Amino acid sequence: RIAGPCSLIIFGVTGDLARKKLMPAVYDLANRGLLPPSFALVGFARRDWDHEDFAKIVHDAVRDHARTGFREEVWERLSEGFRFVQGAFDDDDAFDRLKDTLARLDTERGTDGNHAFYLSIPPKAFPTVLEQLHRVGLAAGDDEHWRRVVIEKPFGHDLQSAKELNAIVNRVFPESSVFRIDHYLGKETVQNILALRFANQLFDPLWSSHYIDHVQITMAEDIGLGGRAGYYDGIGAARDVIQNHLLQLMALVAMEEPISFEPKQLQAEKIKVLAATRNIEPLAENSARGQYGPGWQGSDKVPGLIDEDGFAADSITETYAAIALEVDSRRWAGVPFYLRTGKRLGRRVTEIALVFKRAPHLPFDKTMTEELSQNALVIRVQPDEGITLRFGSKVPASSMEVRDVNMDFSYGTAFTEASPEAYERLILDVLLGEPSLFPVNEEVELSWQILDPVLDHWAADGKPDTYESGTWGPASAEEMMTRTGRSWRRP
Ligand code: BG6
Repeated sequence: RIAGPCSLIIFGVTGDLARKKLMPAVYDLANRGLLPPSFALVGFARRDWDHEDFAKIVHDAVRDHARTGFREEVWERLSEGFRFVQGAFDDDDAFDRLKDTLARLDTERGTDGNHAFYLSIPPKAFPTVLEQLHRVGLAAGDDEHWRRVVIEKPFGHDLQSAKELNAIVNRVFPESSVFRIDHYLGKETVQNILALRFANQLFDPLWSSHYIDHVQITMAEDIGLGGRAGYYDGIGAARDVIQNHLLQLMALVAMEEPISFEPKQLQAEKIKVLAATRNIEPLAENSARGQYGPGWQGSDKVPGLIDEDGFAADSITETYAAIALEVDSRRWAGVPFYLRTGKRLGRRVTEIALVFKRAPHLPFDKTMTEELSQNALVIRVQPDEGITLRFGSKVPASSMEVRDVNMDFSYGTAFTEASPEAYERLILDVLLGEPSLFPVNEEVELSWQILDPVLDHWAADGKPDTYESGTWGPASAEEMMTRTGRSWRRP
């Protein structure tokens, strides 16, 4: 579907996200023919730019980060709808100018009074910007002209602050106009969880505590935090990634089949799972956190967190976090869900592994199955997107030796269609007013409710453990698993 006439206004247009993701995604959408001729992109920032400077910035961002090739005619048409409004968030004049600019675009470009405001700014700036939009009358749409607001995480830093933040947003925009970005939900491989589970007969009968021993959800990154102290210090891995991306992945894996894929139905099922999710106690044994020290990433020597710019020597910000959850439901009783994430780990990989129970009986000589581990279904979210099924197979020419083998589905070989970047899909959905892939406030609050006790436990516990860069995290994370007779996968 192609978006209708509208403008997208980005606050925080000088930031990293705008440059690396938002502006390139807008271009890619235009290039794929998914934006209408009457589309406008408006940047708002303090920087002393004019329209030409802004166009140049977008141009460079597109050159460096767009997924689709550069086409002059697409660029020409798109860039005619670029505008820049210079000002600070508390500058009344600037918002008056924004209002004028949008009104002019409505007539000149035909954007028709439909506006999406993208707040790619620190949450502490939300109240000011929202208040300004309200003051100049830009926040209120009507039956014919829609207004939407897009907000980026962090949605608060705990349950209490999330509630406060939401109250501020909802004072100006009704919940139905609020689009909270969790870019993991924009990924093809994440949406495919629904297809895998609900379009097939093969997997559902196995999808429960009858056959599954535990689930591991891993989001590992090899990058460090150089340059990101401003955002990350004091936030840490659990708030940055577990509260949103990983709990959303878990909800999609654990939820029941929705009545339909209508946004309300989908949300209802995710909310049910999140509401039934609790931490496995005691937290001291069922959680782990760490901070990366110096080490090697491939052949590069890399510094530890506290030697990165902007982090103090006594920073207790965790760069690795692992937690253990259970879902109180008939389907999942007794099945731990292990969630982990970290920076400067062995490699960049996100995957969801459903690890099966061992066969109740093995009619083989013990020595024949030494290399047989538990069956596993692994959803490879990224990179190398696909799905792997691991099972035992007889080793050729052996009497009956059984060893793990993999059956693979890989996007690269199965499809010729390329996957769009997550932000492309999400921005298009905002412009279309399609909310399925955006977590609602209740999901955000339930996620904090799950995480808060762990964060409190860690806060009372002092400094995180250290792990060497390029490894798979602190020893405490290994112990957390070995204590239960399990082990983390090494993807
Ligand atoms: C963001 C986090 O949400 O996701 C970052 O704030 C992280 O810390 C990023 O690096 C990873 O996204 P992706 O799509 O590269 O896995």
